[in-house]
Amino acid sequence: MPRPEIEEIKARVNIVELVGRYVNLRPAGKGYKGRCPFHPDDTPSLMVSPEKGLWHCFGCGAGGDAIGFLMRIEKLSFPEALTRLAQEVGVELRGGGPKLELYSACQAVAAFFHDQLLSPMGKAAREYLLSRGLGEESWERWGLGYAPDSWDGLIKGLSRLGLDTLKELGLVVEGERGYYDRFRGRVMFTLRDDQGRPIAFAGRALGEAGPKYLNVPNTPLFTKGTILYGLDLAKAAIRKRGRAILVEGYTDVISLHAVGFPEAVGSMGTALTQAQARLLARYTDRVVIAYDRDAAGSAASLRGMLILREAGLRVEVATLPPGEDPDSLAHGQGPTALEEVLSQAQPFHKFFLDSLAERYDLSALEGKEAALAEARELWPKVRSLPLRAELARGLAELLSLPEEEVRAAMGRRRAAESSPGGSPELSPEEVVLHFLVEGKLPEEVLSDLEVGSFRPEYRPIVERWLELWRAGEAPTPQALVSELDPDSQRHFARLSLLEVRFSDEARAMHEALVRFLYLPQLERRLAGLAEKIRELEGKDGEELRRLEAEYQQLARRRLALMRRRT
Ligand code: UTP
Ligand code: MN
Repeated sequence: MPRPEIEEIKARVNIVELVGRYVNLRPAGKGYKGRCPFHPDDTPSLMVSPEKGLWHCFGCGAGGDAIGFLMRIEKLSFPEALTRLAQEVGVELRGGGPKLELYSACQAVAAFFHDQLLSPMGKAAREYLLSRGLGEESWERWGLGYAPDSWDGLIKGLSRLGLDTLKELGLVVEGERGYYDRFRGRVMFTLRDDQGRPIAFAGRALGEAGPKYLNVPNTPLFTKGTILYGLDLAKAAIRKRGRAILVEGYTDVISLHAVGFPEAVGSMGTALTQAQARLLARYTDRVVIAYDRDAAGSAASLRGMLILREAGLRVEVATLPPGEDPDSLAHGQGPTALEEVLSQAQPFHKFFLDSLAERYDLSALEGKEAALAEARELWPKVRSLPLRAELARGLAELLSLPEEEVRAAMGRRRAAESSPGGSPELSPEEVVLHFLVEGKLPEEVLSDLEVGSFRPEYRPIVERWLELWRAGEAPTPQALVSELDPDSQRHFARLSLLEVRFSDEARAMHEALVRFLYLPQLERRLAGLAEKIRELEGKDGEELRRLEAEYQQLARRRLALMRRRT
């Protein structure tokens, strides 16, 4: 849901002046650069682009728009930062009137989904919940519901709210023939703010078809990555018990509460954001992370753990038995086993070092190199000196290297990467993304792009960009960035500000497209043809000869593409 007043505010804010209040900025290329205030920065790594209204640190990866900068540097929530900027530049924010109505509309929607769950139509959903051990007593408490399996169940059922309101809440989608319900035939989870007010919804598929979970987009009530699932019901227990248990999923939260861990909250995926960390830090200074084993060691999750540390929290990580998540543990083995697992949680640095040892073969040189490379990725984000010391010591021991060497290796990468004037190593994917967000990719390429071929962290950007483009709007960085979650904003700012001085822009774009798009496409077609040719082998027919000729032709094209590259 675009909010014109936000665009107006951002258009009026002078981002160079804003950042310049905290950082000494100097002109550089089309923008400005200075020392990043968010990590120890000896080389100026922070870039600010007045033209795009974005900032990005090539050292620690922080970045976003003016609102995000103010939030981060002043430790403000989104509405707080927005209000402050609005006052400065003299833009009137819509008052409490319409917003209050929106909250009560959202409440009505939650009640509607809940009623559907209890109605005859909700039978399959009820059985599903029961089969997962989510008993009736939890339905009301957690605002569980059911979205009927029809195109306009909600639109018709809540017509009194008006289509505009449902649109504002992100509950309807515009198709070619009008509006239809976003959630159909799904179990519904109500997302509430820490005051317990319903602000958004997520729907889980009952079967295997479609995405497992579907969420509403950002709305005036809800910004992705800014809430923690269950915090309204957990906050008292978190304070009382002096810890929060952080899990990934909705079902994990509900099940933990049910078996006696009311201090559990959900990050809704592993990519934790700073806003979430700050929210949690209001209630406790200690977090125990209980992600499933595979997820816990992922780059996104490690980043999240560091974000929590940066917010001043003590972070411990529990190691779950293979194949289990907190939900399955709660139901399978019960509270005692769970508490056992939680009580053995390790401090973040121990967990990180252990997970390196578990994932890489540290007896081989290649394994050591890979582990070192991974630690280097994380290093610029580690701001605490004692933590840096622990990590350097631990790594040295783990890799049987002198500690000074380890430290030197960590530092080198940072210096090289953080120089925005230099040319950081770019993948073809990133170059393609750069031209995408700059609006420079030609139409025929755009229609060929598939969201799924990009790395998951870039998908929200591509998805949103293509959505706007297909709707016939020109996606500008300013408009797009406010609709993304904080992590995607960070990526967006980096991709957009890549001050890669291509000596020949057209050629750089072509090369990246060849490597990221055309070659893989050709490879797929060749593989498909080879498969068919194998099937027809020995049958020696017209068809076989045709396929072989086609194969030859494509193989020649592949060769030509590869030649032109070098
Ligand atoms: P999981 O896949 O672990 O889901 O994703 P889960 O909660 O354990 O779900 P069940 O037990 O299979 O029903 C963890 C969280 O990541 C987000 C959701 O918040 C989910 O609870 N997620 C996952 C999505 O938003 N979309 C998806 O497609 C998958
Ligand atoms: Mn699960």
